[in-house]
Amino acid sequence: MNSTSLQGELMLGQHTATSLAQRFGTPLYVYDKELIESRYRQLDAAFTGLKHRICYAVKANSNLAVLQLLAHLGAGFDIVSGGELERVLAAGGDPAQVVFSGVGKSAAEIERALQLGIHCFNAESSAELQMIIEIATAMGKPAPISLRVNPDVDAGTHPYISTGLRDNKFGIPIEEALALYRQAAQEPYLRIVGIDCHIGSQLVTVQPFVDALERVLRLVDQLADIDIHLGHVDVGGGLGVSYRGESVPSAQDYVEALRPLLAGRSLQVICEPGRWLVADAGTLLTRVVRLKDNGDRHFAVVDAAMNDLLRPSLYQSWMEIRACTDAGVAEQIYDIVGPVCETGDYLGKERRLRLREGTLLAVMQAGAYGYTMSSNYNTRPRAAELMVDGAHCHLVRQRETLSDLMRGESLLPLSTDKEQACN
Ligand code: LLP
Repeated sequence: MNSTSLQGELMLGQHTATSLAQRFGTPLYVYDKELIESRYRQLDAAFTGLKHRICYAVKANSNLAVLQLLAHLGAGFDIVSGGELERVLAAGGDPAQVVFSGVGKSAAEIERALQLGIHCFNAESSAELQMIIEIATAMGKPAPISLRVNPDVDAGTHPYISTGLRDNKFGIPIEEALALYRQAAQEPYLRIVGIDCHIGSQLVTVQPFVDALERVLRLVDQLADIDIHLGHVDVGGGLGVSYRGESVPSAQDYVEALRPLLAGRSLQVICEPGRWLVADAGTLLTRVVRLKDNGDRHFAVVDAAMNDLLRPSLYQSWMEIRACTDAGVAEQIYDIVGPVCETGDYLGKERRLRLREGTLLAVMQAGAYGYTMSSNYNTRPRAAELMVDGAHCHLVRQRETLSDLMRGESLLPLSTDKEQACN
């Protein structure tokens, strides 16, 4: 984990944040390899005694080095696009350990995944099943499927990241799933392998996971009664992290809450954690560009913006912001804002900090849904990404350049001769 040196400087691995920012520039995402490894191992150990597989949710942080690290530790992957599948392959992941979620898989994505032999499609509608059947039939290759059921459980999280309620677009209403399984069982080009649910993200209590799993297992039993036997139950992702000192379940708490429900069943448990594995391992370094006062409101304009880290703007997420060094000036209450031309462009509001122009700031726990949600809005090249490993550090993504941003665009063949242009 990051720590503070004797001089009060923020340390990332064995490096000061200041030295990394000087060497690689800002904004800069820094990930701690040891922390990702230790998180994976903790979760894996918590599952001891249960047949299980951790399928990391690639969307949380899809840098190839992160995927490579997790593949090396034995993780499978939860993907939501053909692009994520290609990333998993490029990082050395095993397609046979991939589960494919998402409400809008395209024909090309289904074909590619089937050809590569993924573990299963988490199908989210009967229309999707129909498409899978057509493709599998044309390829002469039965498709492994699991239905993503919507257990209608309130995850108690932000409405944008709550997915297990009936009025969300995700999954198949649990009451309709039995009939759909029955139909699927008649299809020669479908192979039923499991059942899946994901009720939301950043859950800070275990009870919704338990409620969802109880409902899903009731269905598993009803399926067994009609001779449909499943190989796995996928409990989704969603385990939260503590962004603001709130108490959150540990990996052990999470697994121990599920264990009594699973004990005595021969089902493999799959889980799809994203945030919990990588959030705490990431820090976004950004420098104060300008201090500005509007009346009695103080603003620190920094060189990272909503295009680099969208979570505060999109979900009003609170993320800790620290000054990496002591600026030696009086504390003041600042809104930490980016240079993007949107009022909603901020990283944090009303933070008590000591700042000067040039002060280096660290946005903590930015390893999940940070870089992966970044964009080029305002023609801002995206940040570089760095992996620290004790005394070593590896640049795992170069900073984008302006020519990267304009690649693929072209000018119109406009003529300066007006007459010609009209003809
Ligand atoms: N499985 C499925 C099917 C998912 O949709 C998600 C996340 C996960 C697993 C992983 O959930 P996690 O363990 O990371 O909570 N951008 C938002 C989070 C969106 C989550 C989307 N789905 C944020 O920054 O808070």
